[in-house]
Amino acid sequence: MEQIKINGGKILSGEIKIGGAKNSAVALIPAALFAEGQTEISNVPNITDRDALFSIMRSLGVDISMKGSVVNIDSSHMKNAEISEELSNKLRASYYFMGILLAKYRHAEMYFPGGCSIGARPIDLHLKGFEALGVNISHDEESHKYTLDAQNLKGAKIHLDFASVGATINIMFAATMAEGTTIIENAAKETEIINIADFLNAMGADIKGAGTSTITINGVKEMHPASISVIPDRIEAGTYLILGAIMGKDLTVCGVNPDHITAVLNKFKDMGIDYRIDGDRITVSRTDNIKAINITTLVYPGFPTDLGQPMSVLLTQANGTSYFEETIWENRMQHVAYLNKMGANIELKDNCHAVIKGATPLHGAEINATDLRGGAALVVAGLVADGQTIISNIDYILRGYENLIKKLKNVGADIQIIGEKE
Ligand code: EPZ
Repeated sequence: MEQIKINGGKILSGEIKIGGAKNSAVALIPAALFAEGQTEISNVPNITDRDALFSIMRSLGVDISMKGSVVNIDSSHMKNAEISEELSNKLRASYYFMGILLAKYRHAEMYFPGGCSIGARPIDLHLKGFEALGVNISHDEESHKYTLDAQNLKGAKIHLDFASVGATINIMFAATMAEGTTIIENAAKETEIINIADFLNAMGADIKGAGTSTITINGVKEMHPASISVIPDRIEAGTYLILGAIMGKDLTVCGVNPDHITAVLNKFKDMGIDYRIDGDRITVSRTDNIKAINITTLVYPGFPTDLGQPMSVLLTQANGTSYFEETIWENRMQHVAYLNKMGANIELKDNCHAVIKGATPLHGAEINATDLRGGAALVVAGLVADGQTIISNIDYILRGYENLIKKLKNVGADIQIIGEKE
């Protein structure tokens, strides 16, 4: 089994180039199926979620080629077919094929999507939106197979109980080629949604309001090939900036959009952490007297849930007591036990509330990644800790952080992958 081995405590300096946003790419790649012919997506991150999507699309007869971070997708010979349970379970975002296949063929067959263990991760809001558009949904409780059919897909006004990112995008997909107008109210406002709407509009869709809480989609009949670039990954950038706030000496992330991580930078200000912005570059250095603060994760543009776990490591190095509240997922504190094993002093009130007392020196340990961002938090902790840390279950981490080892070695980290790939 492959593991990450870290000898921590090293000061990290230099530049980390940020890749394309995972949570944009996993929607943009399947969205290429809207157009008959060749589409091009650039700045695609080198992550295993990308490869999982490619295997699903190839099972539908789609030709895919890559040159560096540029992906060419040719859907000329694609066929609508059931997406197997094995493929459906490769990643949570496989559910985007539901909206796309409904738009193109009025029919989709697949299984409940996989993903991390951070919560039940239902898709009821997606399905409710599809039903509002006239989709009939049958679900086999045994096999978890979904069969979705729509005689005709008609635009509707849809109010989301929760500003769900996935439901917003999936309903936008299904509405793109429906008859008439769809209005999504209480839509998610994450920046990735703007990137996806830009791609759909470039292919001939008629979508307005992406990035606000009300999105209007006028259905179109035809879509044509186009190209798009994936926006920078604000979560990857935030993760490395958090690392730099503890171990950095002029650690710079480049190729980022600072406007996408305002919530994180504001917290840095509250904590007394120095950083400087220069265009698409942000440089941060460790600060001796880090102030304890409170963090509550919220929908965009609030503090992002995907940076809560990495941030909890920074809070262990703050002087005083910090309160960390996770409001988006019901089980995103599984990394805490491992941080405490490394010397942190974190008391879990429940699965969503942690009291973090700092500053506590961290020491190396043998630990396990429990999910993608929890795993990233453990990499940060290992780089901070004195001594050796061995992290298992690293597939979780490689799903969302491209070239992790190379990027960290480049700035002075003593980190490597050991063991055999299974
Ligand atoms: C996206 O997940 C991201 N994943 C998540 O990032 C991110 O944490 C989340 O948005 C919130 O920002 C991708 O984009 C692939 P949601 P998504 O629908 O769309 C509940 C990472 O680490 N919910 O906004 O699945 C759900 O249970 C990942 O990169 C329903 O109840 O998130 C959760 O409590 C983790 N019913 C909350 O809403 C639904 O139908 C947030 O879900 C859908 C969601």
